[in-house]
Amino acid sequence: MEDIFITEGDRVLGRIVFGHGLEGVVPALEACAGTGAPLHVYMVCDSHVAGYADLVESHAALHDRVEICGKYMLEATEENKVMDTVLSITGRMLADGADRNALVLAIGGGITTDMAGFAASIYKRGVRFAYLPTTLLSQVDAAIGGKTGVNYDSYKNMLGVIRQPEFTYICPEVLETLPLRDFLSGASEMVKTFLIEDGGWYAKSLAFLSGLDTAEDKRRYLRDNTRTLLVLIHAAASVKAGVVSRDQFETGERRKLNLGHTFAHAIEKNARKNGDDITHGEAVAMGIVMAAILSERTGLACRGFASALAAEMKAAGLPVECPYPAGSLAEAMSKDKKAEDGIVHFVLLSRPGDVRIADMTASQAAGFLS
Ligand SMILES: NC(=O)c1ccc[n+]([C@@H]2O[C@H](COP(=O)([O-])OP(=O)(O)OC[C@H]3O[C@@H](n4cnc5c(N)ncnc54)[C@H](O)[C@@H]3O)[C@@H](O)[C@H]2O)c1
Repeated sequence: MEDIFITEGDRVLGRIVFGHGLEGVVPALEACAGTGAPLHVYMVCDSHVAGYADLVESHAALHDRVEICGKYMLEATEENKVMDTVLSITGRMLADGADRNALVLAIGGGITTDMAGFAASIYKRGVRFAYLPTTLLSQVDAAIGGKTGVNYDSYKNMLGVIRQPEFTYICPEVLETLPLRDFLSGASEMVKTFLIEDGGWYAKSLAFLSGLDTAEDKRRYLRDNTRTLLVLIHAAASVKAGVVSRDQFETGERRKLNLGHTFAHAIEKNARKNGDDITHGEAVAMGIVMAAILSERTGLACRGFASALAAEMKAAGLPVECPYPAGSLAEAMSKDKKAEDGIVHFVLLSRPGDVRIADMTASQAAGFLS
């Protein structure tokens, strides 16, 4: 499968490399070593997938251009996605003597890649980093595009920077251990991507997911359909890389990638307050449907669009019903980090492949929805 590039004009900022097996990450690391001293790699790994870090380490031991100089485990939870954890990574790197030629390799899902990328971006004013994403969500979304960061003061991803990884290495094998609930969370972001830029992928992704939803042996379904899944991941990664290459710092087109996210972040905030267990991807699926309802009520989409979309997503096994009334999301939405002077850039859609930005206050949006 062909590499995908993140570019700025003619300049390549980063690449997305597709391979099979964890050993494939080592040649990608070697390419970062250049011709000088061996590359010093500091791994930041989700403790749930510690075994993958061990495998990378044993493969790296067979190559003299790559030296693993540190291996730090972290607990990948939203509560732990905070500045203290980032500072503990930079503290360990300092103690281990990491210099400005260090490369941080994040192994894990979006929580891990967001934090490791941020730690690398502030350590000694910035060292290189690369990602080995181990969730579907991070393979199609979080590990692409360079947004790094942590939660702050109960708001999601409030502190962070945009900085591109040297590479993102995608291999399907790591998804075999991923719990199905987390797999479906990632599927929400994949479907979101295809709703933004369709090209027939929206229907293909829902057909794939509907097969999974009805399969008796879901693990086996995923194993038997790895190739189809990889093609979908490649397509979603291409869409995201294209948008990011055209608008890295989110001054325009990149805002479209936030489809469903203003609602999702507010849903996640409510969930934390109420002690409810809702993953980011689940909140995104609910947020997409809320965006569709808002699109219908503001006249952008035809009547019936939102309920048809909700039915399609539900049949694909995605959660579509937000458990909270729209009014209770308004305050959190107004404090969305992308809000400007109280105006929120809502991403609306008229049909798959046609999304538009509509500016309104959070309470206006809540009014349309209630
Ligand atoms: N930077 C971005 O552009 C961007 C985009 C979307 C989402 N995000 C962020 O990503 C985060 C969500 O990412 P996620 O869904 O990947 O979550 P995650 O990192 O929390 O991973 C989900 C769960 O799966 C476990 N896990 C990871 N890989 C596994 C594997 N292969 N086998 C078994 N268990 C595994 C983790 O320990 C965790 O319990 C959120 O914090 C969100 O804000 C960032």
